[in-house]
Amino acid sequence: MTAFAPANIALIKYWGKRNNELNLPVTSSLSLSLDKGTHTTVKFATEDAVWLNGNRLGPDDAFTKRLLTFCDRFRDKNCPLHIETVNEIPTAAGFASSSSGFAALVLALNELFGWNHDRKTLSILARLGSGSASRSLYSGFVEWHAGVRDDGLDSYSEPLNIEWPELQIGLVMISDKQKPIDSRMAMRRTVETSTLYKAWPEQVAKDLALMKEALNSKNFTLLGQTAETNALAMHATMAASVPSILYWQPETVATMHKIWQLRNKEGLNIYFTMDAGPNIKLLYEKKDSAAVAELFNLA
Ligand code: DP6
Repeated sequence: MTAFAPANIALIKYWGKRNNELNLPVTSSLSLSLDKGTHTTVKFATEDAVWLNGNRLGPDDAFTKRLLTFCDRFRDKNCPLHIETVNEIPTAAGFASSSSGFAALVLALNELFGWNHDRKTLSILARLGSGSASRSLYSGFVEWHAGVRDDGLDSYSEPLNIEWPELQIGLVMISDKQKPIDSRMAMRRTVETSTLYKAWPEQVAKDLALMKEALNSKNFTLLGQTAETNALAMHATMAASVPSILYWQPETVATMHKIWQLRNKEGLNIYFTMDAGPNIKLLYEKKDSAAVAELFNLA
């Protein structure tokens, strides 16, 4: 059984959990799915085997363990699986491939085991693999509701049904190296040690309202400004962790300055967002695509 799920980029970030086992978030979040994502094939087999981008991974590989531990939630003891994952975007470099990875895996398992679950249930199951995966069950703009229940049954994603084809996301690759600390550990450390974290839910509530206003009125400037502010607030919050977490490389900072220079001095209406890695995602409108492609090396 083969399934595809798109990667998604959060415009309003998920950062911090109220339950680490179930990936229940402290706040709601909002994302836009990309065209690219993950293709996953799952078959019954005689022994467990995990393939990533054409290479068979060892049983002790972290990716193998994460995938198989996830499958253990759903299978009997004697049910080996052959899992093949192909990512169209770099794995674990803050390009959101875990989001599409677990969503595609859940879709493939839904077929293989004949669950016939609806999207809401699949979104809840994908969340158990990786929080952001709950948003990758849909294309377009998606909101993941934080929910309040301890069992997480009200913590799932929904599409917003907003069409905005002029809005573009460009990936500026700064480094495709594995990040020094994964988002899971980083968000845990932020919640436990950053004195700025108590301001984060308030920041998200404000930004989420502004983002919905921007989407409903197709106000690109409001969308860009809100996404950029939200991403920088997330990074500031994690920088205040002990020990500090800073994903930025010198080139990340140089790219931010370049964006601000172009926007403030040269009138190019571009903004950025960033996740748990050094790479930058540009937000711009279709009419500026040629200018952006000339100015940045897009992945
Ligand atoms: C910065 O979904 O990878 O990309 O739930 O622990 O698997 P886990 O975390 P993950 O975190 C994503 C964090 C982010 C922001 C976002 O996508 O909302």
